[in-house]
Amino acid sequence: MTDSQQPLAKEWTKEEMEQAVDMPPVPEDKEIFVRIRNLHKRFGPRHILRGIDLDVYKGETLVVLGVSGSGKSTFFKHLMGTHTIDEGTVEVGGRHLDHLSTDEWGAYRQDLGVIFQMAALLGSLTVLENVGLPLIEVERAPTEEIRERVIEALHRVFLPAEEILSLRPDELSGGMRKRVGIARAIIQNPRLILYDEPTTGLDPVTVSGVNELTLELQKTLGVTSLVITHDMEAAFTIADHIAFLYNGRIVAYGTVDEIRANEHPVLRQLLTGSTTGPLTEDYVK
Ligand SMILES: Nc1ncnc2c1ncn2[C@@H]1O[C@H](COP(=O)(O)OP(=O)(O)OP(=O)(O)O)[C@@H](O)[C@H]1O
Ligand SMILES: [Mg+2]
Repeated sequence: MTDSQQPLAKEWTKEEMEQAVDMPPVPEDKEIFVRIRNLHKRFGPRHILRGIDLDVYKGETLVVLGVSGSGKSTFFKHLMGTHTIDEGTVEVGGRHLDHLSTDEWGAYRQDLGVIFQMAALLGSLTVLENVGLPLIEVERAPTEEIRERVIEALHRVFLPAEEILSLRPDELSGGMRKRVGIARAIIQNPRLILYDEPTTGLDPVTVSGVNELTLELQKTLGVTSLVITHDMEAAFTIADHIAFLYNGRIVAYGTVDEIRANEHPVLRQLLTGSTTGPLTEDYVK
């Protein structure tokens, strides 16, 4: 008998399924790097984020799980500063993002690496120019220094830097483009990296490569990372903690083992990939 065929321990009401979980007390050996409380976002009449509470510990990787359309990318855009904070607080490394001046935003962005859902490289620029872009735009570094730092960043993501510096994105494979995107995100030694579906559309070997890279960067750079993924294998491989976003709230949070044992019915359906459960019933209604 598979998990999904087992009778649920109890019947969950809609209210129970949408109930936000409280963040646990901070363990003595941990420090909060990202702290979000009661974050709301509305697009016209649609209430997409309905009170997000989340802690991310310094140096850890937190994976955000959630079905398509649940608000994961919208949530990330608040950390990137592309959405203004309507209601609630977002604190990163002691900075209150709801109260930053333009200069403070500039400094914050230098501490931030972002890996988009699509690698989002500029098609008309070479690898050297794409990866070096933050240095040209933000730091106005000299050309020779930019070249050296680009090569170093490409080596960190295990790419043959010298061979590909002058290639354009359409001359690279999908997995290489992803790595170039990651190299661009880490070139300024960020303190926080946001990955929005870093492995979507890649073959399983490349997926493993990107997962290993995430782990490696955590070890070598000591960065804090937030990762959105639909890939459960990836989530269980790279996460220190997992948060499950459902209907605009974090309704489950825990370590990999705690999430594997969590009985939230929608999370269970997502983990088992079952076609029967509250997720698919909602679609039928
Ligand atoms: N700029 C916007 N204006 C209006 N509605 C938006 C905007 N951005 C997102 N939405 C809506 O917010 C909801 C959540 O979108 P979001 O992109 O955050 O989902 P997601 O969880 O990232 O999904 P996926 O897994 O498919 O990437 C969707 O219903 C979407 O239509
Ligand atoms: Mg998304």
